[in-house]
Formats: sequence, C-alpha cells, structure tokens
Amino acid sequence: MCCEDLKEEIEISEEQYLKIDEILNMYQDPEGNLISILQKIQSELNYIPKVVISYISEKTKIYESKIFGVVTFYSQFRMAPIGENLIMLCQGTACHVNGSEKIGETIKEYLNIDVGETTDDNLFTYTNVACLGCCSLAPVMMIGDKTYGNLTTDKVKEILKTIQKKN
Ligand code: FES
Repeated sequence: MCCEDLKEEIEISEEQYLKIDEILNMYQDPEGNLISILQKIQSELNYIPKVVISYISEKTKIYESKIFGVVTFYSQFRMAPIGENLIMLCQGTACHVNGSEKIGETIKEYLNIDVGETTDDNLFTYTNVACLGCCSLAPVMMIGDKTYGNLTTDKVKEILKTIQKKN
C-alpha cells in the first residue's frame, strides 16, 4: 500500500490542528519521539488520517514516507476511524493454542468483515492483538474496556448479539 492509495477527504477541525500543534511542540526531537507523538495524536483523533501524516511532515520536516512507514508498521496505529465497539481478539500463544483462530473466523463470519475492518453500521471494528495479559482465561477478547474470557464460538456470537440488541 502506498501513500497515494490512501487519498481521502477528511476534514480536521481547527481545534484538532491546534491540539496536534500542541503535541508537536512538546518535543524538541520529534523524529526521536515519533511513536509517542503518533500515540498522542491517535488518542486525540481516534486514528491517524493521511492528511495528518502530511501535516506532521510539514511541521517537523520528517519525511512523509517515514511517518507513513511507522504508522503502517505498528499495529497499534490506525489510518481509518474505528467503529463504536473495538473488538480486540488476542492471538497470543495461550489464546492461539486454545482456539482463538476459530473465534476470529466466527467474528468475521458473523459480522461479515475482515480483520481491521468496520461494519457498515459502524458498530464494530475487529482487530487482532498480542497477549492481553489474562492467559488463564484463554481464548480472550476485549471489546472496549471489557474483557471476555473462555470464549467459544457460541459465546462470542451471543456477546456480539447482545451488543447489537443494545443499539
Ligand atoms: S495469550 Fe491471550 S491473554 Fe495471553
């Protein structure tokens, strides 16, 4: 995927640009602190749109390709907005051994999306993550800040259905 493939028309508000400036001004060596800068910006905007990568590059003189490379290399960064409920399915060793792959297939099938995608109704985004730190409950997923353990394919469908019903 190259930068040109991600052309988008996203409006960033004046207020958001000011916030980005504020974050950039916190660092004397932006290049050495690029990951921290991107983390802070993502927590402000919820994701890092292409237009913001260009803006950071313009302000800091870091090559746009370098920023783009960092954003696409680390799975913690997103270039598209996420849905209301972020599903983070653990793919760590314990979860993998206990069937997380099957759980992932069930999520994809049930919601009709792939990893990294958001449902059309904007209710769910599905991602895979590394160990969530509660391996005794494997397989585990988090949705928002809630942890669900000992997952089975039926259980995961029930959880998703319950969230859908609430909305
Ligand atoms: S491997 Fe999944 S919680 Fe640790």
